[in-house]
Amino acid sequence: MLMLGERAEHLNNCKIGEILTKRYTVAIFLVTTFIVNRGEAQMPKKSIDEKIDDILIELTLEEKVDMCHAQSKFSSPGVPRLGIPEIWMSDGPHGVRAEIKWDSWGHAGWTSDSITAFPALTALAATFNPELSKAYGKALGEEARYRKKDILLGPGVNIYRTPLNGRNFEYMGEDPFLASTMVVPYIQGVQENGVAACLKHFALNNQETWRGHISVEASDRALHEIYLPAFKAGVQEGNVWSVMGAYNQFRGQHTTHHALLNNEILKGKWGFDGVLVSDWGSTHDTREAARNGLDIEMGTHTDGLSSTVKNAYDYYYLANPLLEQVKSGEIDEALIDDKVRRILRLMLRTNMNQNRPLGRMNNPQHLEVARKVGGEGIVLLKNKGDFFPIDPRKEITIAVIGDNATRSMTVGGGSSELKARKEVSPLEGLQERFKHATILHSLGYKSGAPVYGMETESNLDADSLQDVAVELAGKADVVLFIGGLNKNHSQDCEGADRMNMALPYDQDELLKKILRVNRNVGVILISGNAVETPWLSKVKGLMQAWYLGSEAGHAIADVVSGDVNPSGKLPFSFPVKLEDNAAHHFGEQSYPGDGVSQTYKEDILVGYRWHDTKNVKPRFAFGYGLSYTTFRLAKVKTDQKTYSAGEQITLSCKLSNTGERDGSEVIQVYVGKLNSKVERAEKELKAFQKVAIEAGKSDVVELSIGIDDLVFYDESISDWKFEKGDYLIHVGTASNKIVKKLKINIQ
Ligand code: BGC
Repeated sequence: MLMLGERAEHLNNCKIGEILTKRYTVAIFLVTTFIVNRGEAQMPKKSIDEKIDDILIELTLEEKVDMCHAQSKFSSPGVPRLGIPEIWMSDGPHGVRAEIKWDSWGHAGWTSDSITAFPALTALAATFNPELSKAYGKALGEEARYRKKDILLGPGVNIYRTPLNGRNFEYMGEDPFLASTMVVPYIQGVQENGVAACLKHFALNNQETWRGHISVEASDRALHEIYLPAFKAGVQEGNVWSVMGAYNQFRGQHTTHHALLNNEILKGKWGFDGVLVSDWGSTHDTREAARNGLDIEMGTHTDGLSSTVKNAYDYYYLANPLLEQVKSGEIDEALIDDKVRRILRLMLRTNMNQNRPLGRMNNPQHLEVARKVGGEGIVLLKNKGDFFPIDPRKEITIAVIGDNATRSMTVGGGSSELKARKEVSPLEGLQERFKHATILHSLGYKSGAPVYGMETESNLDADSLQDVAVELAGKADVVLFIGGLNKNHSQDCEGADRMNMALPYDQDELLKKILRVNRNVGVILISGNAVETPWLSKVKGLMQAWYLGSEAGHAIADVVSGDVNPSGKLPFSFPVKLEDNAAHHFGEQSYPGDGVSQTYKEDILVGYRWHDTKNVKPRFAFGYGLSYTTFRLAKVKTDQKTYSAGEQITLSCKLSNTGERDGSEVIQVYVGKLNSKVERAEKELKAFQKVAIEAGKSDVVELSIGIDDLVFYDESISDWKFEKGDYLIHVGTASNKIVKKLKINIQ
């Protein structure tokens, strides 16, 4: 194997260089210069295709088939004879994963692969700040580039359908518009580095239970209106260079080789010109995979792989079996050429683009991005009597209670695990910032065996842990309870869903006991999911603080101390109880299904669409989040009262910061169709804007909505349809904090 660092130079001397130089002395320079990040617009597309043609013609059938499957856990082969490089991939999506062994899931044990861990995608979504998403993608892409990765396996945009889904923390919430808006800049930021983002998991992978085989039954409408838009935006607006198929089936066919999803929609209607990579072990059939869009097969649990390394990858569905079927004429070689064409295109954008930037890693700027996203992503959910912020100048005693105050949250969780070079725990962050306070700490509860061999900090049994915590709480002026979930199996982790919506490890009980000895309690939840909050009325403060990566403790201390004024908004609804969530309302066949299939019975009414339309009050609504200052939204108006198709609605409003601190508010615009002929959600998010305003100042803000974005998916014509008539525009600062409703008419 060619060492990764040598690949670019090697290209200059190798056969492929000769092939291309002979025919494209001038063109090759231009192609490699302009190819990154749609710079190819400056170069006629034909030149790239011709270039690919010239390489393709040199390849034997065996070499082409080789390029369509893995050669190790995270790489696919190049063509050494011609100097075509291997493709190296890494998880994703919150940082670049540690190196994994060639043939097994074990860590390779490198010492140069610790990185910056960025906040989980739920936190990024909660910032409602697309510019931050760009900065996140760019920084992450730089780390991937420095680590010599060609494909970064992320971001994930599966919709938050149930609070039990073990992987929600890797995704961008329940709303397709929010996820679409946030995912595009992330992709662009990553790909500016000449590293392909890989949008996953396509599609309908909304639970971990039976993820390998469960067949999702969902209507075309739910598919197009809820589950596909973020993928579509990633492809069409983000120009993502690769997409990952999912484990589950959809209508009885595996999504990784799905005729409708991959051929008709992704590569057909959407015009995706990149590479469809399988999830690790999501390929199940040679012919179906070959025909239905799969380009690179990864991670198949091939027979013999564990007992022999030699040629093990030849048993992959898209390896020898594919070769045989092409040779016997069952599969057309043109299909293989299309795959290789796509793979070469991805290479020309990444590892065969000699002008891509070099990348960088573990630099202060990346930590700054991580800290900023963390600070802006934290959502303040309750703040009675201005419990938060806590003044760091005060000489008080703070009891920090909870296992999540010290637990590393960059490890665990499955494939998104990270080996962070640095991880500031919440306790460390608070200790650093609250120098005048006396900080006491107790684990408070037993949290189960930590994943990946981490040692627990205490040998005390659960009862004793509680006793110690309650005793400390009794001595403190303020209690900060830092609990939640923890990326252990079935607590926000790949491979299993949560068992229920309650906090694990008796945390509710512990909180109850703490509240008996101290009424001054603030809760900081670390999780990627909604949890039940039976103690809510008793605690003074509540913050949703996600998994925040390397700078977790700093970001939390920033908000707790008031250095950062919270501006995060929930990217998903917190139901009061599980049955209030739409997927669960319809019982087991809706979630988790019967082991074979499941039906998305709530259809398009996912998340707040359900809560609003069916009048099921959530505990905390989508888009909700408090600030340390107050805002007033006024003078909300549209530029017209009547619109026609193709036009834009321009909405203006005046946002004033009426409090005493600078802060940011997210103006949210939802639209609902009045008297629709089909069932529709009461309202759907169609625009939002995060606005920073100094204390005492105001700003006039304009937002626009395309009339054509108010369509619904009409199953009778298998296409989007526009309904004329009256629409209600809801403008506010949360889905349940609507300040103004405006009726417009569309002709
Ligand atoms: C996950 C993917 C991940 C892949 C490689 C799979 O189990 O579903 O998200 O990229 O493993 O680690």
